[in-house]
Amino acid sequence: MKINLALIASIIIGIGLVAFGFTAFQIASDRTQLKNELESKTVRVAEDFYKAYFIGLESGDSLATAKITDSLLDQYRFTGIKIYFNQDSIISIRDSARSLAASSLDFIAQAISADSSMGRLVKMDGRRYYEYVRLIKRVDLPAAAVVYYTDAAYIENILNSIWFRNFWRWFFQALVISVVTLLIVRWGILSPINKVIEWARAARSGDLETLQKRPSVPFLEPLYKEITGIAKAMQEAKAVAQEEARLRTTAESVWTPERLNEEMKVLLQNKMMVVVSNREPYMHIRVGKEIQCIVPASGMVTAMEPILKACGGLWIASGSGDADRETVDKYDKVSVPPYENKYTLRRVWLSKEQEDHFYYGFSNEGLWPLCHIAHTRPVFRQLDWEYYTQVNQLYAKAVLEEIKNEEEPFILVQDYHFALLPAFIKKERPDAKVAIFWHIPWPNPESFGICPWQKELLTGMLGADLIGFHTQYHCNNFLETVNNALESRVIWESFSVKVGNHFTMVKPFPISIAFTLKDYETRMATRLSPAELLKQHGINAAYMCIGVERIDYTKGLIEKFLAIERFLDKYPNYREKFTLVQIGAVSRSLLKTYADTVSAVENEVNRINWKFKTKNWQPILFLKRHHSHEEIMPFYRSANLCMVTSLHDGMNLVAKEFIAARDQNDGVLILSRFAGASHELPGALIVNPYDTEQMADSIKLALEMPKEQQTQKMKQMRRMIMNHNVYAWASGILRTMASIQN
Ligand code: G6P
Repeated sequence: MKINLALIASIIIGIGLVAFGFTAFQIASDRTQLKNELESKTVRVAEDFYKAYFIGLESGDSLATAKITDSLLDQYRFTGIKIYFNQDSIISIRDSARSLAASSLDFIAQAISADSSMGRLVKMDGRRYYEYVRLIKRVDLPAAAVVYYTDAAYIENILNSIWFRNFWRWFFQALVISVVTLLIVRWGILSPINKVIEWARAARSGDLETLQKRPSVPFLEPLYKEITGIAKAMQEAKAVAQEEARLRTTAESVWTPERLNEEMKVLLQNKMMVVVSNREPYMHIRVGKEIQCIVPASGMVTAMEPILKACGGLWIASGSGDADRETVDKYDKVSVPPYENKYTLRRVWLSKEQEDHFYYGFSNEGLWPLCHIAHTRPVFRQLDWEYYTQVNQLYAKAVLEEIKNEEEPFILVQDYHFALLPAFIKKERPDAKVAIFWHIPWPNPESFGICPWQKELLTGMLGADLIGFHTQYHCNNFLETVNNALESRVIWESFSVKVGNHFTMVKPFPISIAFTLKDYETRMATRLSPAELLKQHGINAAYMCIGVERIDYTKGLIEKFLAIERFLDKYPNYREKFTLVQIGAVSRSLLKTYADTVSAVENEVNRINWKFKTKNWQPILFLKRHHSHEEIMPFYRSANLCMVTSLHDGMNLVAKEFIAARDQNDGVLILSRFAGASHELPGALIVNPYDTEQMADSIKLALEMPKEQQTQKMKQMRRMIMNHNVYAWASGILRTMASIQN
């Protein structure tokens, strides 16, 4: 409203000023023109009149005044005529001008002294006249003149009517222009602007659909562009802010080494924590004259090591490196990680026989195939069992030694090598809180029931306060096995077992890797393309699949290779374009089944490579040696896909490590449904490794999966792993242990 008033006022004033200026100019010029016309007319008529009636004056005749009648004066339209002889003698021929005003006398005197006839406009008795002084040129009348008066009032009238007309013209113009302007403003500007305001409001709320439906107002096109740009920028900023807020909220729930450390201080209350496993986290090995420290290939080590690094404690494990004895102190201890010294590793030395029968025999020829349904027959030997018992006792002794001065220590026993250990420890130290985590699957009761020492194994495990598996399914299998085999009470409501007066909780704790918010957010600088990485190995191919496994018959390596063969048979377009890089660490090679697996794997690689290979390309690159985490990373990062094809696997951390390495949220994971990880990673392409056709098709699907789909799945899996990292796993186990009352 204010704008409208101001606009109208401006229009009125503007037009008024212009009209006034023009009128003033017109008046001035009309006045001059009218005056000039009147003057010349008066002069002309006055001359004619003079010649006709006063000519005798010049020739010396007497004045012929009698001849000048009113009708003559009317004919010449003079209002008055006077003859001036001197101030005292003035003859008035027509009297409307009456006596001469003082100013007229001055004017006549001016003309006489200038010796020239002169005219001017004067005002007399409130009326305008034109006064013309005509000199009488006679020697005897040296200062005489005839003065003519003509009515000039009409000039003012004309000029006033010009003012009047121009005023109304200005008024109507201003009125019309104001109305038209108001209508233009209303319909042409305000109404479209209001529509744009509505549209911008919708756009502000982030409604992209509305943003597309903008009102059609061509002159606001540049504004649309700006607003659309601003809205998009705002939306992006909002999305970033939301993501940040979400991550901030997540950050509070994501477990970090520091948070676990704090949590442990509260839970442990200065009590000692001891981890027991067969495989040690660091092996010292001799390479030439040098001693090197390596991290062995073990999912258990991958998971447990970050926890000890974060919280300290003691880790008791078998010394297995050929330079291990040289690197411990007199208590068989060494601080690790090298140069970081975060926790203590105590090495237990096994004799050759103990290693043969405990590790290779009962653990890896008996329990390992017993728990993995991978169609390798378990072998149970009496001697192996005796050594298994003996080594468990040996470890119990080592643990008891370490905790002898500690009150209510926390003991975390790892894996199938130490099923008897919990009961051995608990028997001596009932105050200790003992948990055993089973890193491998637990089969159904019928399968487990073939073990001649199932009762002893179950009783040994049930000595623990807590038994952990990766999945609820494994917990159920365990409880059913206990139900079938032992005189005990399985309390299904609380997933616990009561033997005598002792309760054991059985719970799933899906293990994970050390992947935190920092890792989630960090973008590593560069990575090689699959082609560049393969080129370093002499292979020309655009697509790369990565596989990282210990060479173990449970890992489904042969099945993976058969799938590659079928893929290349079925989709020959991918020949010379796709290569599987299979990293394989030799494992338990003294066992025939493992040695056979290595040969079978190599034969299969050679057979398939022979079938398809060309000059610069082969379908499988088999890298058979132990690779450090740092060596594996570039493969994880560059590959288009990763294949985990275990025939049976407790969890499988390779799947999670691959996902953690994909900081650019691309790549596809093909994952066996028989790996525990498949329950947590639905974003992977879940396959049955025995179904070669399905696996071959999954490779094609993975290679052709649109980038957006890869990103969406990868982001979701990365978030899942961050939220359920190994620090969360450790806190879950330790909290449960702390809550148990002995
Ligand atoms: C599995 C077991 C671990 C074991 C690893 C490597 O992941 O759960 O306990 O350490 O295999 O086997 P190895 O016999 O070399 O220790």
